[in-house]
Order: sequence, then structure tokens, then C-alpha cells
Amino acid sequence: MIVGVCKETTKHEKRVALTPEGVEKLMSLGLEIIIESEAGVHSSYTDQSYEEAGAGIEKNREKLLKKCDLLLAVQAPDKKTVNSMKSGAALISFIWPLQNSDYVEHLREKNITALAMDTIPRISRAQTMDALSTMSNIAGYKAALLGANQLDKYMPMMMTAAGTIPPAKVLVLGAGVAGLQAIATAKRLGAVVEAFDIRPVVKEQVESLGATFVEVPIEEEETESKGGYAKELSERNKQKQREVIHQHVKKSDIVITTALIPGKPAPLLVTKAMVEDMAPGSVVVDIAAEQGGNCEVTKPGETIYHRGVAIVAPLNIPSSLAFHASKLYSKNLLSLLNLLIEDGQLTFNFEDEIVLNATITHNGDIVSPFVKENI
Ligand code: NAI
Repeated sequence: MIVGVCKETTKHEKRVALTPEGVEKLMSLGLEIIIESEAGVHSSYTDQSYEEAGAGIEKNREKLLKKCDLLLAVQAPDKKTVNSMKSGAALISFIWPLQNSDYVEHLREKNITALAMDTIPRISRAQTMDALSTMSNIAGYKAALLGANQLDKYMPMMMTAAGTIPPAKVLVLGAGVAGLQAIATAKRLGAVVEAFDIRPVVKEQVESLGATFVEVPIEEEETESKGGYAKELSERNKQKQREVIHQHVKKSDIVITTALIPGKPAPLLVTKAMVEDMAPGSVVVDIAAEQGGNCEVTKPGETIYHRGVAIVAPLNIPSSLAFHASKLYSKNLLSLLNLLIEDGQLTFNFEDEIVLNATITHNGDIVSPFVKENI
């Protein structure tokens, strides 16, 4: 079986799906690997390092696509790339099928077997394949650094001959994978950290990282779905949450927002009025910007200033740490491929919930039950 890796087609995407280390591992499973020339150049993996690992380098993308049985990518490749793939070939990448139903239809029509890294179930057995967690972890880490970099203050307490500086106050809203990493990073930088999440189970995790959990009395409401994700709050509870959060936002030097609800726009947590109550020079880092943002004045992809407060809302944060994002993504892919490859060939055991949920299209059908029901 021939595995191909192309240069990413999405603008500003610096990651690559497979690293030279990943090439070696796949070759040990009996596969042949072809890398499009310069596919890893923006994540510091050279053609030479791929060649040394045993991969072939192909300058002509069309030729590569015609040869490969399996294409590995980070972002879903554009339709032109899909059109050049062999009928019956497989693709593994992020796909976000519910947001891209046209694209899924295209894959189905072209008879591509497509597996989405973003629909792998979040169960213990799949932890090593969990690219969502890999990328959220990076986003949380980088959010704390971006906040510190933007702030015109020290993060840690500083005792100098000229006087003592108190530590910066950081508030993290949403304490999933990204939020917890933002807390850990801000703590390492010496800040005093508070955090809030609507799922009460995370209180203990927040406290174990040395942060204080902000309590919001949410009445008679389930805040967590069966899959462990957050549910949308009722209007009454949203209002109650905003009143409490407002008091903490206005005292913070940095507010990092990470709250997401699957399949919905990001919830509004930081209103314009709250931003206007923050001291000039304070910072909001909104890493939910890709889903619209958690802050009312966020402009996705931009850093703006509102009455002296910076609102930083970067897109595709994992790409800014392309070397490690690629390394870990490559490991996530390998872990999935270890499950799929038998005797050097892809096999699809749909009795395995990981394979069933990750497979979006196969033999011209939509496979994942969740996607089938909701697309
Ligand atoms: P996410 O990225 O979907 O959301 C981020 C956070 O925002 C969540 O913690 C959510 O509760 C919070 N949130 C949503 N609405 C909010 C609001 N109005 N106010 C404050 N916070 C709000 O979450 P992520 O990080 O993808 O994790 C989702 C679930 O998956 C969690 O239960 C997590 O423990 C679980 N998980 C399980 C794994 C495994 O067992 N393999 C691996 C990673 C995550």
C-alpha cells in the first residue's frame, strides 16, 4: 500500500500530517511512503529528513495523488485534490463533516473512504489518537503566552530594589483541554489564576492545577451531555453566569476564553460592557474565535483595541507551533493506523466504535451513525 502526504492546501497552514519519525514507523508496518516535495518545510521537516527516513519525494502532486492508496493530511484537502485521487483510495484528516456536508457528499461521489480525526470518540482507548486534545492543548498553551506577550505588565510577582510588583491576575473561562493547559501555563509564568466552567466536574481539575474555581450558582440544569461535552444554558442561567463572571473579568489583567459547545456557535461569555469595565492595558485572548468567539467585541483573526483593552483572537493557533503540532498529530495518526492496518492493508472493522465513528464515507455510503443522523 502506498501512503501519500501532500503539502497542505489551506492558506497559512504550516503543519504537515506525517513526520520523518512517522515515516519510519509506517514503513515498519510494510507501507511505502511518498511525500510531496516541501510538504514539511513550514514545520521544519526537510525533504532530506524524509528521504533519510526512507520516504520517496515527489515534486508532481498529480502523480503522487494518482499513485497513493491512502492520503494523510491535517486539514481536509481541497476538492481539486480529492478529484485527483484514485477512486476507492482513502483519506485521513480533520474533516468536520457536519459543518462541511457538501464536501462529504463530494467524497462520497468520488468513492473516497474518508476518516475524520475530529469524529474519533473521546474514550480512554482512543486517547493516543485524540488529535482534538492534541491541538486544544497547544491552543491553551499558546493562549497564555499570547496574553503574557500582549500585557504591559510582569506575569510573576517581582521583588526588585525599585519595589515589589504583584503577580498578574488571569481568568480562564472554559476549562476543557485548552483551558486547563492555559491555566497550567499561566501558573508556570507566575500569575494568580481563576477559572470557570459550566461543567462542575472540572472544579477538582482546576484546583489541582493551583487555580481557584469561580462558583456560579446554576439552578436545576444539566450542564453536561452524555458525551461529556457542555450543553447550552437557559437564558436565565446565562444571565446569572454573566453577572458573576463580570465581577471577575473587571479585576483581571488577562481573560482567556476557551468555551465551546459542539455543533453550536461559541457561547457569549464576555460582553462589551465587561470589556469596558476592564482596566486599560488589560487583555482578552479569545481562542474560541474560530467558532465566532466568547467575547462580544472579538474580530476573528485580528487583534483589536476597545477602550484600551486588547482583544486578541487568533485563528488556527496549533499551526503557530507547527513543529510539535505536526509531531503529535503524526503520532495520533499512527495510533489510528495501527488499529486499521493488518498485513500491510487498511481494514475496516465497523464493530469497533472508533473505526465506526471515525469513518465518514466508505464504498459510496456515509458510515458514521452520528454523521448520518445529523448531516
Ligand atoms: P470543548 O473544547 O468542547 O469546550 C471547552 C470547554 O468549554 C468545556 O470544558 C466546556 O464545558 C466549556 N464551556 C462550554 N460552555 C461554557 C460556558 N457557557 N461557560 C463556561 N464554560 C463553558 O471541550 P474539550 O476540551 O474538547 O473537552 C470536552 C469533553 O471531552 C470533556 O468532558 C473532556 O473531559 C472530554 N475529553 C475526554 C477525553 C478522553 O477520555 N479521551 C480526552 C479529551 C477530552
